[in-house]
Amino acid sequence: MKLVAGNWKMFKGPGETREFCQAFRMPQGVEAVVCPPYLSLAAAVESGQTVFAQNVHWADHGAYTGEVSAPMLLELGVAGAIVGHSERRQYFGESDETVARRTVAALGHDLRVIACVGESLEERESGQMELVLRLQVESICDAIGAHDALTVAYEPVWAIGTGRTATAEQAREAHAFVKSLLDVPVLYGGSVKPDNAAELLSQEDVDGALVGGASLEVESFTAICQAAAGIS
Ligand code: 13P
Repeated sequence: MKLVAGNWKMFKGPGETREFCQAFRMPQGVEAVVCPPYLSLAAAVESGQTVFAQNVHWADHGAYTGEVSAPMLLELGVAGAIVGHSERRQYFGESDETVARRTVAALGHDLRVIACVGESLEERESGQMELVLRLQVESICDAIGAHDALTVAYEPVWAIGTGRTATAEQAREAHAFVKSLLDVPVLYGGSVKPDNAAELLSQEDVDGALVGGASLEVESFTAICQAAAGIS
C-alpha cells in the first residue's frame, strides 16, 4: 500500500486543522497521514487522523528552547515525524548529523520516521546528485540502518514549491539509487499535484508521496490519495 503524507509546513492553526480533518476521508487502499505544525497536532489527533510531526528533537527533554521531543509527541498520540526536510536544512542549519540523531531518537521511541533527502539544482547540474544523496542517505544508514518504521522521502530541492516536478524517469532513477544504499520505502516529494500523481506513483520504487502545497486543500489531497490507491 502506498503512503501519502501531507506536509502542511507553517500553514493551518488548530481551527483550520479541525476543519480539514473533519472533511477528509481517507480512500481505501492507501495510507494517508497529515503533518501539521506542532500547535495543531492535538487537533489533528483528536480528529482521528494519522498524524506525523514535522520535526523531532533527539533528547527526551532538556534545555533546548523551541524544540519538541519524541516522548512529548507520543503523549499526544502522534505516530511519527518528518526529519531533515530541505527547508530545515536550508533555513535552520539542519545537518546530516542532526538528521541522523533525530532519526535514531524517534525510531528508538517507536515513532515512525520520514527522513528527507534531495539535491539542489546546482548539485544536479554539476553532476553531484548521487554524491549528495549518498552522503545524506549513508549518514542515516550508518546511524540506524534499515528499520521497519523508517521511510525516506526523495525531494529534489528544485522541485519543491516550484511547480516543476522530477520526470518519472528522474524519480525512478533517484529512488532506485536511494534504495541501493538503504532498503526502505521511498516517497517522492516536490510539486506532486492531482494531475501528475498517478504517473509519478506508478513508477517502480516510488512507494508514495510527500505532498506540500496540494495537501492543504481536502479536494486536492484526496485526489492524490485516490491516485495512489489505484496503484498497487
Ligand atoms: P510542494 O508539494 O509544495 O512542492 O512541497 C513538497 C514538500 O516540500 C513536501 O515536504
